[in-house]
Amino acid sequence: MPGIVLIGTQWGDEGKGKITDLLANQMDMVVRYQGGDNAGHTVINGDQEFRFHLIPSGILYPHITCVIGNGVVVNPKVLIEELDGLESRGVCVDKLLISCNAHLVMPYHLVLDGACELKLGKAKIGTTHKGIGPAYADKISRTGLRVQDMLDIKIFRKKLEAALNEKNEILTKIYNFEPFEADKIVADYSSYAKRLEKHITDTSLIVNQTLDKGKNVFFEGAQGTLLDIDHGTYPFVTSSSPVAGGACVGAGVGPKRIDRVIGVVKAYVTRVGSGPFPTELDDKVGERIREKGGEYGTTTGRPRRCGWFDALILRYASRINSLTEIVVTKLDVLSQFEKIKICVGYEYKGKIYDNFPPHQTIVHKCKPVYEEVDGWKESLEDITDYGDLPKAAQKYLARIEELGGVPIKMISVGPKRKQIIFKN
Ligand code: IMP
Repeated sequence: MPGIVLIGTQWGDEGKGKITDLLANQMDMVVRYQGGDNAGHTVINGDQEFRFHLIPSGILYPHITCVIGNGVVVNPKVLIEELDGLESRGVCVDKLLISCNAHLVMPYHLVLDGACELKLGKAKIGTTHKGIGPAYADKISRTGLRVQDMLDIKIFRKKLEAALNEKNEILTKIYNFEPFEADKIVADYSSYAKRLEKHITDTSLIVNQTLDKGKNVFFEGAQGTLLDIDHGTYPFVTSSSPVAGGACVGAGVGPKRIDRVIGVVKAYVTRVGSGPFPTELDDKVGERIREKGGEYGTTTGRPRRCGWFDALILRYASRINSLTEIVVTKLDVLSQFEKIKICVGYEYKGKIYDNFPPHQTIVHKCKPVYEEVDGWKESLEDITDYGDLPKAAQKYLARIEELGGVPIKMISVGPKRKQIIFKN
């Protein structure tokens, strides 16, 4: 039984952490398969709030083995800070496994990320400045260092020196930055290796063995479909594959291992960073959504851009990920409007698109075609039965289901674990 993938259907920040946490009782293992500490998951456990960047949200459950898969890029310094933070709050982190094949985020990746953005000026991506793009670029150009390299410091130094030969030229000659010294990096990464060694292993083997035993493995996507390097709004994307297919590559399992794909859909849409966003609300309505929804980045604290729900995006995410079901989050945030808009098409040069257009120009320049539905003002925060939702909210959800062509299985109406409605 099941390999379950959970992905974001929009531009990230859909509330995936809470859903992983909620389903954790049914899970034996939670695996991160892409991204790095650019991600940010907030989980509220009782009166405690936990923020994770690299560690899978399942870590709060002693029965769950948490895995950082080969597809992740790991900044060991950040990972150790996160481990220390959890331990100091009494959370046992012994069951965290880190793939020996995961790539390392190096100090020069962080500097290059910032330098590249500066150079791009107005055309910048709006990255999280965590070195993610440069780390994946090195992985693809085969000059990256991997977690396993830290365990053989001679090899580590050799690979590092080869990398620095090139990086220092770029840093000093193109960007006018200081060069990096191998000795300092070797010393730092040796000490990280000592701390992390007991967690480092062949995670693909362990994930497959766990599935072989009929246990439940949950593949937790970070970011979202529209930030995917292949399927997102390129170049305004992240440098990994948050889509469901990425789970196979980034965890080392075959596609036949995946039984369910859950899409997390925010009841409206947000994005951080630059790039097209057809339903963006650059007005008071957008501000009201941002304030009520607390739409500020977990990783960077940046205010998120907010907009109405976009059915084209959901249909696209359903196609790209083969969604079997969806979870609608933050429905409570919309409990403030007389009328709510749903985007059902894009208009560009007189033509109406009802599928997410493949050409970026259209996504950049189109006008959203809206359908207006009744809103509701009642608070949803204490509702636990679908039937108790205001009729207008039920209609809104039914329309999302109909337009997306995927059944809704859960609705989240607040940040706490118990603020969830199960739907048949
Ligand atoms: P990077 O992943 O830091 O390279 O940033 C590339 C783009 O992805 C930027 O627009 C970021 O704001 C966005 N991004 C990266 N991680 C997240 C996330 O966890 N949530 C939302 N947006 C993200």
